[in-house]
Amino acid sequence: MPVVNIPEVSYPYNGLNMVPQMGWDNWNAFGCSVSESLLLNTAKKIVDLGLRDLGYEYIVLDDCWSSGRNSSGYLVADSAKFPSGMKYVADQIHSLGLKFGIYSSAGVMTCARYEGSLGNEWKDARLWASWGIDYLKYDNCFNQGQSGTPKISFDRYSVMSQALKSTGRPILYTLCNWGNDDPYDWAQTIANSGRMSGDISDTFNKPDARCPCTEAVGCPWPGFHCSVMNILNKMPAIQSRTMSGYFNDMDMLEVGNGGQSDSEYVVHFSMWAMNASPLLMGTNVETLSAADLAILSNPAIISINQDPSASAAVRKWRYFVDPDETGEGEISLWTRGLSNGDMIVALLNAGNTDRIMNTTLSEIFTGRRTTSTFLSPKEVQATWDLYDLWGNRMTNDEAAAIINGTATNWNNNTRYNATVKSYQDGTRDNDAALLGKHIGSISPSETLTAEVARHSVVMYRLRSQGSRMRDEL
Ligand code: GLA
Repeated sequence: MPVVNIPEVSYPYNGLNMVPQMGWDNWNAFGCSVSESLLLNTAKKIVDLGLRDLGYEYIVLDDCWSSGRNSSGYLVADSAKFPSGMKYVADQIHSLGLKFGIYSSAGVMTCARYEGSLGNEWKDARLWASWGIDYLKYDNCFNQGQSGTPKISFDRYSVMSQALKSTGRPILYTLCNWGNDDPYDWAQTIANSGRMSGDISDTFNKPDARCPCTEAVGCPWPGFHCSVMNILNKMPAIQSRTMSGYFNDMDMLEVGNGGQSDSEYVVHFSMWAMNASPLLMGTNVETLSAADLAILSNPAIISINQDPSASAAVRKWRYFVDPDETGEGEISLWTRGLSNGDMIVALLNAGNTDRIMNTTLSEIFTGRRTTSTFLSPKEVQATWDLYDLWGNRMTNDEAAAIINGTATNWNNNTRYNATVKSYQDGTRDNDAALLGKHIGSISPSETLTAEVARHSVVMYRLRSQGSRMRDEL
């Protein structure tokens, strides 16, 4: 398990998930084709590829795993798909140093019409605890009309929350009600994360009538077939609800599933990490390409996501530009302050052409200005070292060697083991894999300028030279 140094604080729910959960879920790539061998082979591969040691910890089994209830009313695992039973699967996953997640719905059926848990919460929670389950993804289908106001949804989801807690086993509780009834307003007292949008699809910026909302708040029909940019642009209005113990879940990653270009997947992964979303890989890791492994295992990006501040990203500005057939073109500036005072800056070009993008310290640190002073905040008066967070991206040759099991040398610029040293400690120690590539600095009078290709993002870590000098003394 990754090392996480987080001081004890008072937290709202069960004390779990101080930083966003990471792992793998079968749904995006496999749908209902689930089995014992899929889970166990995936778990082993996640270890072999170094992904467990980067923090991908939960192996989550999604819908379609049960064959109904037995005469005592307990859920039964489908014995054709899981011939050795779920306890065995859990034991095997645990023996690899990973954790096991399962799925159900706060309804009478799951979304794929398997048995749901509404009305059977206490029984199901006890059963899962006895199997050694560490994580529940709890969906919203067939909820018998028990939705429509935050209170109705809260009450329905709260039953499972209490049931899980009463088992005495630490079980992460992740809501999947697609932002219905605005869970970011109430779920932090009963759960560890909450989906904030309809289901993702493997598209970058494609409008789809089946995902009609462009804002999360008050969206009456979250739908599905939501693109990366659609989900991303629902985040700014709800980012203040991000906190240790509860995160807005932007849905499972599509990296590796083939529907987007390399740079679009870089945007997807970077912006999910930046927005403190859970990072659940959603692809077949057994056939992962070198390029996709390089994206999913960039420690400089993961360390932002796992920052103990649990802070959210802020979209500082967005301008609409050259629309194309894939949707509205836009460019935006995103920032996120980290616990050690570093600042992350993302220049995102979701427009249809390559372009030069600019920003300044004044813009980056707007949030530090207050209405009561005309003085620049101290951040705007400092000089900052600039690190390119994709500058040390693992080459395809190196990633291929890891995939083929032929990698001989550990590359300190590209690889990181968070089970040995926490991301926080590694960042403090200026670990190259976490900081990225040093490319210069920016002073108060300068403009930060970057060439940002069509459908891509440039990600920087800014570290104040003042604080760096203090660290080194
Ligand atoms: C819903 C969820 C998905 C997935 C499917 C399974 O659509 O939002 O993430 O779990 O159900 O049927």
